[in-house]
Amino acid sequence: MSPKIVVVGSLNMDLIVTAPKIPLEGETITGGTFCSLPGGKGANQAVAASRLGANVHMVGCVGDDEWGRVLLKNLEQENIETDYVTISPGATGVALITVNQEGNNSIVVAPGANGRMTVEHVRRAESIIRQADLLLIQLEIPMTVVEEAVRLASHHRVPIILNPAPAVPLTEELLQRIDILTPNETEGKLIVTGRAEGNVEVEEIIFNLVEKGVRQVVMTLGGEGVAYSNEGQIKQLKAHKMEVVDTTGAGDSFNAGLGVYYAESGHLADAITFAQDVAALSVTQFGAQASMPSRRQVEHFSSTKPSHGEELVDEIK
Ligand code: RIB
Repeated sequence: MSPKIVVVGSLNMDLIVTAPKIPLEGETITGGTFCSLPGGKGANQAVAASRLGANVHMVGCVGDDEWGRVLLKNLEQENIETDYVTISPGATGVALITVNQEGNNSIVVAPGANGRMTVEHVRRAESIIRQADLLLIQLEIPMTVVEEAVRLASHHRVPIILNPAPAVPLTEELLQRIDILTPNETEGKLIVTGRAEGNVEVEEIIFNLVEKGVRQVVMTLGGEGVAYSNEGQIKQLKAHKMEVVDTTGAGDSFNAGLGVYYAESGHLADAITFAQDVAALSVTQFGAQASMPSRRQVEHFSSTKPSHGEELVDEIK
């Protein structure tokens, strides 16, 4: 049966320009093509989860403008329940994205309606959160809203995946309620040390997060794969080598894959492998939501890919 997933998060219109490189501070460069596509970490994860076969409810907020209408309609076309997507007077969230020739990006988000989400808004969605198999949440909405959604899900014993992006410091009270935390290295470093800079070993970050009370840590390492905590050990799964077109939304596809498979099976290691396959396919296509693969595409990839192995990195003492 399809798992019921509630996504609490952002919806943005992505304004994307391709360019030979990411411009430096103060630099103007000539880019290539421009397009606008539906995005936002919350909506991206909702679309990916829906395409992977989950029954998805989105809780979020758009503005009362043309982009808001387009984003809402797009979610409906992706078979996502939008009863708890509020329309608020003012602008919809927008992300300015530059994608370079290697498929890497830089993103600046103007939160718009995402920043107008309120605690009452998420409380109104309590009945669907209570019935969910999993809550999937990120940090592109106000922290008070994140905290309330996590509190409600934890109260109803609904497993929670928190994708701590974009990176901000998090309280121990919040971390202790999280079943699976999915930072990248920068986000993990910031949560642990309060700073995004400096050298901190991956094992130390994971060890520290577990010590702070997170049940499971799944850290994405870009081209290096994924490191995760597992029964007192840290394991690393290598990344697939793909022809990269655009990495925008790769983290979102990973989180959705993780959430869907974990909600279906309760098996973390298998869910990570599935999520890696989803993310591997997503980087081969342009755009965020536009690049999210279907369940059938992922299953085909999983059954034909070469095995890439797992390695034990460290033990959590
Ligand atoms: O994770 C990718 C997303 O980040 C983009 O779709 C953009 O909207 C920003 O939220």
